[in-house]
Amino acid sequence: MSDFEVIIYEKQNETGFITLNRPKALNAYNIQMRDELYQVLGAVKDDPEVRVVILRGAGERAFCAGADLTEFLTAPPPVTARQVRWERDVWGLFLSIDKPLIAALHGYVLGSGIEMALCCDIRLASEDAQFGVPEMGLGIIPAAGGSQTLPRLIGRGRALEILLSGRWVKADEAYRLRLVNRVVPRDDLWPEAERLADRIKTHSPDVLSYAKQAVMRGLDLSLEQGLKLEARLGGRLPANYTSS
Ligand code: COA
Repeated sequence: MSDFEVIIYEKQNETGFITLNRPKALNAYNIQMRDELYQVLGAVKDDPEVRVVILRGAGERAFCAGADLTEFLTAPPPVTARQVRWERDVWGLFLSIDKPLIAALHGYVLGSGIEMALCCDIRLASEDAQFGVPEMGLGIIPAAGGSQTLPRLIGRGRALEILLSGRWVKADEAYRLRLVNRVVPRDDLWPEAERLADRIKTHSPDVLSYAKQAVMRGLDLSLEQGLKLEARLGGRLPANYTSS
């Protein structure tokens, strides 16, 4: 599982570390990265030895500066692209993982970079992080779920302002917008993500999985249906104390 070219995957104490690793290209998201992420996310999803996942970027300057612009002109024909997307739905795979996903974000977090972060559950940012969705300036709209995940996280008006204006947001504003959970000094970013993962891992895998499912699936339900879902999931736990 370590023979990747553009990501590094490590497992330590039941935490899976996925590091985007193209620092010279600011970790731009290319086809190779998509394929490797698809492989590694599929593995962590099913690996009982991985309880929490931390996603981060190598190098000093970026978590990820978006889709690899050099591949834009070499895109496959639409039919092939559609077929590949069907076979490699990285974004759907992200969202299907019932384990906690933590994004540790520094430097540039642009385009696919912010969209990857939005597919995670908890976002920690360092003080130097800058967020943006530059797609509109390239004549396209987000293709990795950003038009759906951003408004769900920060609200329609704020999301539309960022999407439509192409304005970049620095870490302190990202915190105020609730785009990130916390802002920490750069040197503390990875240790803080690990501390959080360690804390999360004190809970049982089932508790974590059901809690995440209750929140994620519940967001698409009415409150009444969500309460039923919560009761159903809670009822599967041995320590269940609900009266229903
Ligand atoms: N795709 C491919 N390569 C990229 C890249 C991307 N999205 N973003 C940066 N790089 C490469 C640059 O080409 C450069 O490579 P080089 O050293 O071989 O010339 C290297 O990363 C460093 O980037 P550079 O532009 O020199 O750094 P900078 O500090 O001047 O600017 C950015 C940083 C992020 C502002 C600028 O690189 C940028 O605007 N990138 C594109 C962002 C974008 O539009 N992403 C696509 C969203 S859909």
